[in-house]
Amino acid sequence: MPDPISDRLSDIFERLVALRHELHSMPELAYQEKQTSARLAACLGEIPGLDVRTGLARGTGIVATLNTGRPGPVVALRADIDALSIQEQNDVAYASKNKGLMHACGHDGHAACLVGAATVLASMRDQLSGVVRFIFQPAEEDGRGADAMIRDGALNDPPVQAIFGLHGWAALAVGQMATRAGALMASTDGFRATIVGRGCHGAAPHLGIDPIVAASHVVVALQSIVARTMDPLKSGVVTVGKLHAGTAINVIPPQAELSGTIRALDADVREHLRTQVEQVIRHTAAAHGCRADIALDGGYPLVVNDAKMAQFVVDTATDILGKDNVDAARPPSMGGEDFSCYLEKVPGCFFFIGLCPRGRTDFPAIHSPTFDFTDEAIAVGVRLFCELVLHARGGALNG
Ligand code: NI
Repeated sequence: MPDPISDRLSDIFERLVALRHELHSMPELAYQEKQTSARLAACLGEIPGLDVRTGLARGTGIVATLNTGRPGPVVALRADIDALSIQEQNDVAYASKNKGLMHACGHDGHAACLVGAATVLASMRDQLSGVVRFIFQPAEEDGRGADAMIRDGALNDPPVQAIFGLHGWAALAVGQMATRAGALMASTDGFRATIVGRGCHGAAPHLGIDPIVAASHVVVALQSIVARTMDPLKSGVVTVGKLHAGTAINVIPPQAELSGTIRALDADVREHLRTQVEQVIRHTAAAHGCRADIALDGGYPLVVNDAKMAQFVVDTATDILGKDNVDAARPPSMGGEDFSCYLEKVPGCFFFIGLCPRGRTDFPAIHSPTFDFTDEAIAVGVRLFCELVLHARGGALNG
């Protein structure tokens, strides 16, 4: 049987690989994706029938809309486009030209997948109904770009009814995918504390109040929150990632600073951990005669997949990849993703696609300096995005 998506995809695959490599060579940080955004806008501008809006989310976000003119579902597909502050260690022709910056999370691959889906679907416009919205989002890495896109109308005109997004996943082989109904990825909250004591000579500790000793007790006490106050069958993380104090070996400094991250897989645990972290820092510091100035910042909410949408994605993926290559009950990740912000507004599903070439076991994880999105996986991503739109047309989203 002729397969229109495969045929069109094989026509454009090499171009998508070239685009991915180009994006990879010019990584840009959150809200600074000017070149990336311009390149993507140029690609989208060449696709007939697409309405392209640029300049969203402080300037670098793009939404492209394919309106078939026929009644049907309004489905959004999303890719993130920002890079990370990591010095690339890959020795490839298209390695990062921007010193200290790198596409170490594969967002170059996500963007190429979405351009591919837009190209294929626009060429099949006569066979589609409803509206397809393509969202190219800046600042996924700690910039809450999803919120900025939503504020600028990415889910409106017409109102999006379902949204799907993907992430390349090093632990899965190319051709595999995984997701789950319910919580797939953790909430993220940052905390920062300044432990204020009183500085003095290191040889006369009784004349001061040592914030280093207090901060050390704080770090240790924070470890008891998950171990001693949480239901052991639930999941949470409290990690102190930074601890700074002092300038000389014989001086007790006036203050110490620490900061870290809180992760949870349900909203109650999240609230519990936020409250506990604040109290433990405050009271432990007080027990050592110090004051603690504490700031908790709200990070990303949990990525919670709608049960029906997750089933829809699993069924669609099973058709394409085969049952053995689809994991419908992937254990959740304690990583975070601002795709959660869309899922708070619209039902949808986030899923992982495999990046590890078959037969390899040492594929670098995301955020490592030797990570690189696998080109073959672009075909899988495009295929899944397109099939989700085609299947949605059949009323599967309402069934
Ligand atoms: Ni990412």
